[in-house]
Amino acid sequence: MAMMRAAGVAEFGAADRLRIVAVPRPEPGPGEVLVRVRAAGVQPADVAVRSGWLPPGAPPAEFPVVPGNEFAGVVEGTGEEVAGFRVMRCYAEYVVVPETQIVPKPEGVGWAEAGALSASGQTAHTALERLDVRKGETLLVHGAAGGVGTMITQLAVRRGVRVVGTASAANQDHLRGLGAVPVVYGDGEPDRLREAGPFDAVLDAAGRGNLRTDVELVADRSRIGSIVDWELARELGCLWIGSDRNQARLAELLDLVAHGELRVTVRAAYPLEEAWKAHADVESGHGRGKVVLIVG
Ligand SMILES: NC(=O)c1ccc[n+]([C@@H]2O[C@H](COP(=O)([O-])OP(=O)(O)OC[C@H]3O[C@@H](n4cnc5c(N)ncnc54)[C@H](OP(=O)(O)O)[C@@H]3O)[C@@H](O)[C@H]2O)c1
Repeated sequence: MAMMRAAGVAEFGAADRLRIVAVPRPEPGPGEVLVRVRAAGVQPADVAVRSGWLPPGAPPAEFPVVPGNEFAGVVEGTGEEVAGFRVMRCYAEYVVVPETQIVPKPEGVGWAEAGALSASGQTAHTALERLDVRKGETLLVHGAAGGVGTMITQLAVRRGVRVVGTASAANQDHLRGLGAVPVVYGDGEPDRLREAGPFDAVLDAAGRGNLRTDVELVADRSRIGSIVDWELARELGCLWIGSDRNQARLAELLDLVAHGELRVTVRAAYPLEEAWKAHADVESGHGRGKVVLIVG
């Protein structure tokens, strides 16, 4: 059996459990493609998977557990017809994915940027769609400096939406650079938000009970969404937003990046061998844009 290198854990635990492991190289099944991974984005969900969280309905974990749910790479082989979605395990030299989930990378887009885009960008794009945000409206984004927040802020601004985004003091200029009106989170935040409003829609990309403030700010709860807090969204009758990935969405995002209309902020790139450092970085919960693993 052909083997490959990956970054994974032999048991759930802290970031420093992530090691290089040898795992069987996956074979593309019907409708799948084998991709040689060049870069993989690192997401908070990967930190959760490493720590023992399983997506609802997922089978029990098989060790070593290899995280990773967004990537860019080179197609090396194909299977025959279509299969469903699963956690990709793309902190590895190779990944197998349904061919309906990938599109060609434009020449001018770097591997790190492309690798950091497929989940975060598509989540942001999905959220704009679900919240039905239109030109001339004002959108509040909690966590606007993060991987998803940075994307939704730019996508909304280029649609002619006024974006108010929350971040730490260190990231206020970064948000201004993305075209948003920055607001510092923390003590006194609800008052500062009231001053920066009124708002037509809200995306909560930070959790921490923000939705409780949001329902005071926007009357129509179908225009308040969270990608973080499923339980509170359900309790308050707000939207739960999950990433809906498809080729059209990904192609549109890559095209925007290729034409300089969308910027992927990569704050740090680590080799696969240092996946644990990448996790420690993301797990800090702070920092602007994306963390990426470079493979090979
Ligand atoms: N539902 C889905 O399909 C889906 C998809 C992707 C992600 N998610 C979830 O969405 C969340 C965001 O993901 P991400 O990839 O954008 O994470 P990320 O890049 O790690 O986000 C970190 C950002 O959160 C900001 N932040 C920290 N504390 C905050 C607070 N109290 N208020 C506002 N912002 C705060 C930080 O800003 P400072 O550095 O300025 O502190 C930092 O920029 C995660 O919980 C992730 O699991 C869900």
